[in-house]
Amino acid sequence: MMPVAMVGRGGELTELTRAWSSLAGSDPPARRTVVITGAAGVGKSLLVAAALDGFDPRPSCVLFGTARVHDPAPYDWLAAVLSGRDTTGLPLPADALAWLAQHPNAPRERYAPGTLLRLAVATVRALVGAGPAVIVVEDLHALDPASLNLIGELAAAPELPVLLVVASRPPEAALAPELAARTLARLTGAPGAVRQHLGALTVEQVAAVLGQVYPDGPVDRQLVETVRERTGGNPYRLTELIATRGGHGPDGLVGEPPPEHPRLPVEPIGAELGGAELTAREVEVLGCLAAGMSNKQVARSLGISVRTVTVHVSNLLRKTGSASRTEAALWAVRRQLTGPSQPV
Ligand SMILES: Nc1ncnc2c1ncn2[C@@H]1O[C@H](COP(=O)(O)OP(=O)(O)OP(=O)(O)O)[C@@H](O)[C@H]1O
Ligand SMILES: [Mg+2]
Repeated sequence: MMPVAMVGRGGELTELTRAWSSLAGSDPPARRTVVITGAAGVGKSLLVAAALDGFDPRPSCVLFGTARVHDPAPYDWLAAVLSGRDTTGLPLPADALAWLAQHPNAPRERYAPGTLLRLAVATVRALVGAGPAVIVVEDLHALDPASLNLIGELAAAPELPVLLVVASRPPEAALAPELAARTLARLTGAPGAVRQHLGALTVEQVAAVLGQVYPDGPVDRQLVETVRERTGGNPYRLTELIATRGGHGPDGLVGEPPPEHPRLPVEPIGAELGGAELTAREVEVLGCLAAGMSNKQVARSLGISVRTVTVHVSNLLRKTGSASRTEAALWAVRRQLTGPSQPV
């Protein structure tokens, strides 16, 4: 299935774009904060990606970090930002940077927690420079306490020329619910902060998604309403339903598997693999990950955009329960989907 273009969210997109242009147009640029909350799969990451794509002028840099899915460690967010970045020119102690970046042989326990927090803020400041830059915090709900403190500090740090964009599931779903709630309150309490809460797609928006997937004619209204009910209007559940049941037209979205063919796979383009139902495209992307490709290389090899690759990868991590691309690749190899035929 081709990924569907974002429907709805026009107001949120405009607000994000305005926040960026007013920040980038002011002299000196003053920090703005946008906090996007909503349930799992409601479309927070897609909104952030769409907004970033359209920012004009282009940010001087984008610091993009997310939580590790399992086994959170201190400053995961910053470690993700630093990963693959050349930090040799930064005016900070090399051993502290190595610790913050979670290099495996970094010296342990050299700095007190307060000092580390100051060093973490200084690292972000050094990376941002004169800006104007964008800082993206994905999945705040899943972050470790040290990262949450850092994000709270960044929202209050004086003269930081950044748009701070934070996406989070509600604090009840967080790893550290109280601390996440406090951090979200701190972020939304910052001067000029904007809070966006994303809700389910409306029937019209579900119809718009189905219209993209089935362009040959309008999809029956009753069917759209049933699909909306079945998925609760959640875009993730909707796109999954389409990918696994909708290969032969919209009727498959609401029907049960035909009883006369109980053994036939219900989803012609899907694959049931070791408990995770992957689409054909996801299997291809997984194969590329197992071959050690970067997102850019995957995009080139499959003829799709890098952004589409990142959506596939995040769905793959979720479905395979993997913490990282490497773990997802190992998952594939173990199930002999790709790569060496011997289990590792
Ligand atoms: N407004 C939308 N229109 C069409 N498709 C959408 C929309 N929002 C999200 N999707 C699709 O739904 C899926 C889930 O979206 P996304 O990953 O952005 O959700 P999320 O809120 O970030 O979830 P999580 O809490 O798990 O991080 C993606 O495949 C995305 O392309
Ligand atoms: Mg997300």
